[in-house]
Amino acid sequence: TGHFTYDQGFVATASCKSAITYIDGDEGVLLYRGYPIEQLAKHSNFLEVAHLLINGELPTADEFKAFEHEVTHHTMMHESLKTFMQGFHYDAHPMAMLCGVIGSLAAFYHDKLDIDDPEHRRLAAIRLIAKMPTIAAAAYRYSIGWPIRFPRNNLDYCHRFLHMMFEVPSEPLDLPPVAAKALDLLFILHADHEQNASTSTVRLVGSTGANPYACIAAGIAALWGPAHGGANEAVLTMLQEIGDAKNVAQAVERAKDKDSGFRLMGFGHRVYKNFDPRATIIREMCHKVLNELGVSDPLLDIAMELEQVALKDEYFVQRKLYPNVDFYSGIIYKALGIPTSMFTVMFAIARTAGWVAHWLEQSADPTVKIGRPRQVYTGPVSRDYVSIDKR
Ligand code: CMC
Repeated sequence: TGHFTYDQGFVATASCKSAITYIDGDEGVLLYRGYPIEQLAKHSNFLEVAHLLINGELPTADEFKAFEHEVTHHTMMHESLKTFMQGFHYDAHPMAMLCGVIGSLAAFYHDKLDIDDPEHRRLAAIRLIAKMPTIAAAAYRYSIGWPIRFPRNNLDYCHRFLHMMFEVPSEPLDLPPVAAKALDLLFILHADHEQNASTSTVRLVGSTGANPYACIAAGIAALWGPAHGGANEAVLTMLQEIGDAKNVAQAVERAKDKDSGFRLMGFGHRVYKNFDPRATIIREMCHKVLNELGVSDPLLDIAMELEQVALKDEYFVQRKLYPNVDFYSGIIYKALGIPTSMFTVMFAIARTAGWVAHWLEQSADPTVKIGRPRQVYTGPVSRDYVSIDKR
């Protein structure tokens, strides 16, 4: 293979240096800027975590106020974006809309954007964090034929999002207190995860000097697949298909059969080979939220049975396959009234904090090179052209 190594799927290649997130996959450790995910989940909030990821430090009270004010100031969507959205077919997947609309922001902010200027870069990051929930909620409302709601900027980040999703003019939105709290926690847990496929994509596109909105649109595209962020949607579809706890054993058998093409969605991780610390927090949260909402979801029983059966099974034990962050998150989203097609969009809102943090880190580093992997060529050796009448 010449002067490079073949590393299919980058299982053993570090593509960059980063000071943002640390994972120890054997020990089940996840740190954002040194802070354990368990502590952040318990005490912090999503915007504070976004500040931490972007700036490297938890904000002081004044810094937090300023950061929240700035994010709030940028939540509005350009009026012409609504026209842009109307070009989508009514049943477009919200991830397709999110990817397209975020990419189109490159056309809205290009003339004022100088990516060599740190202040311009910071502003692009703030805009993305601020506008993502507005655009996400707009995509949802468009899909059900409802008019888009203005962001209510007297509310905090998560309440504002829930209002944009579900509010109707005539009735006050009666949200149970646990709803915004649960959402905030899910956003914290999904905010960053070092060089996952979508973040690596953002960095790869960013390494060419591309527009930041285009970089994040590329990240959204990478997140969409069921092996990555699309898993939360796929888990729910899978649980619905299993339909009953008594069918669980059969589903587990099918997942072990390589010819079936079926995998247990929400199981396994490239880096975690012991447990996913986010899954532990989410499992607990799932019970709490359902309890507080007074919701009993038969899918939770199926999920718990599936986890128990798989964790005792030789196949899963040997391969160190455990429930990951996406295994229980969908059940919580469903309890909050968020439709299945929006689950990966929810992931994208949260991961935007990580994507922009990585893009900022990379863009500030003058030593960064364009991402350009090599390949192992397997095609024909050199041969001569044959004219069409002789083939
Ligand atoms: N069900 C059944 N078998 C599995 C599963 C699964 N979910 N995951 C991995 N395996 C098997 C796989 O067939 C392979 O077996 P063998 O060694 O006999 O060939 C072995 O376990 C190792 O799997 P791999 O595909 O080489 O592992 P990877 O690191 O390339 O893939 C993964 C990691 C997360 C893509 C994979 O585990 C998977 O497809 N899981 C289901 C989708 C999922 O839940 N994705 C969300 C990941 S976490 C959040 C996120 O990133 O968005």
